[in-house]
Amino acid sequence: MSFFQWLQESFPPAPKWRPEDAPDLTGKVVIVTGGNAGIGREITKGLLKKNAKVYIATRSEDRAREAIDVLTTETGKKAAFHQLDLSDLAQVRESAQAFAKRESHIDLLYLNAGVMLPPIDALTKQGYDLTVGISLIGHHLFLRLLYPLLLAAPAPDPARIIWVASFAHHHVPGGRLNYATFTDGPERRKTGLFLLYDEAKLAQVTLSVYLANRAKERGERVVSIALHPGNINTEIFRDKKSWLLKLWVRVYPWPTPYGAITPLYAGTAPEAVEHKYLRPWARPGSPNLIALDVTEQDKLWNWLEEQVKDYL
Ligand SMILES: NC(=O)c1ccc[n+]([C@@H]2O[C@H](COP(=O)([O-])OP(=O)(O)OC[C@H]3O[C@@H](n4cnc5c(N)ncnc54)[C@H](OP(=O)(O)O)[C@@H]3O)[C@@H](O)[C@H]2O)c1
Repeated sequence: MSFFQWLQESFPPAPKWRPEDAPDLTGKVVIVTGGNAGIGREITKGLLKKNAKVYIATRSEDRAREAIDVLTTETGKKAAFHQLDLSDLAQVRESAQAFAKRESHIDLLYLNAGVMLPPIDALTKQGYDLTVGISLIGHHLFLRLLYPLLLAAPAPDPARIIWVASFAHHHVPGGRLNYATFTDGPERRKTGLFLLYDEAKLAQVTLSVYLANRAKERGERVVSIALHPGNINTEIFRDKKSWLLKLWVRVYPWPTPYGAITPLYAGTAPEAVEHKYLRPWARPGSPNLIALDVTEQDKLWNWLEEQVKDYL
């Protein structure tokens, strides 16, 4: 990505579409992973205002309940909590199975939860890099297990899978995923935290395009859209000690509500189903060309299936 492209992504033109423009969502069942904080919380708020039935799927019940109380005051509508820890594949399976007992279909699945630059020693329960494990592998398993509920979404609208990725997916050198960095070892240790985040996001976008194409080929009423939400002031750096990051989050990002514009457009605007990748604010964009490469998509799908096979 050139400096010019970076500037374009960072300072988009004023939004032409606003969350108020979303249609009424009465009767729609929605899951927002990480819906208790940051961008996810703003997405949840926008959906509640349009009368959707929203489940906040996240790891901390206390943090979720706190957010639900505030959101109820703000919107007059109450979201539900659903336990989900994306850093543990056994719990992800438990979570998906429990959800299938709560609802018979899903209209809209936001795969939003994520971490950025956790300590290099942080791994998931099954030993994957934490960023990749949560954003990619945990979400892949959750989605795989919930796919029948997406297929069961009432006609005529297609069910939508929305991946809150990032323009950071353009930053992977050579554009190729290095699978050796996804588990702990010398390759991962020398890769660095920024690149691990970039790889996780490139993999999300690649998987999203794969799923969109596969659903179309199979004639399924499901769409998958990946997006960059903008550079948003959220809690993503809450544990960081670096003064540089602390300065960065003060001067650079947009206010949190901006972070929900593109995801809400992707999930609710009728015309958004035509797109595979969106950029801020609610505009079509072009993903990294690698994400469109069928060989890379198949390789990623097969790798992911191998990782989650014991939990399906
Ligand atoms: N902020 C930006 O500028 C920006 C830019 C591009 C893309 N994004 C993407 O936007 C998404 C949301 O980020 P954000 O900025 O809103 O960050 P945030 O405020 O830190 O929110 C992250 C959410 O993910 C949840 N989460 C973390 N680990 C989890 C786990 N193991 N299982 C389930 N939920 C988990 C967090 O739960 P807790 O509250 O319990 O920690 C929180 O609800 C991320 O995918 C991020 O990569 C953000």
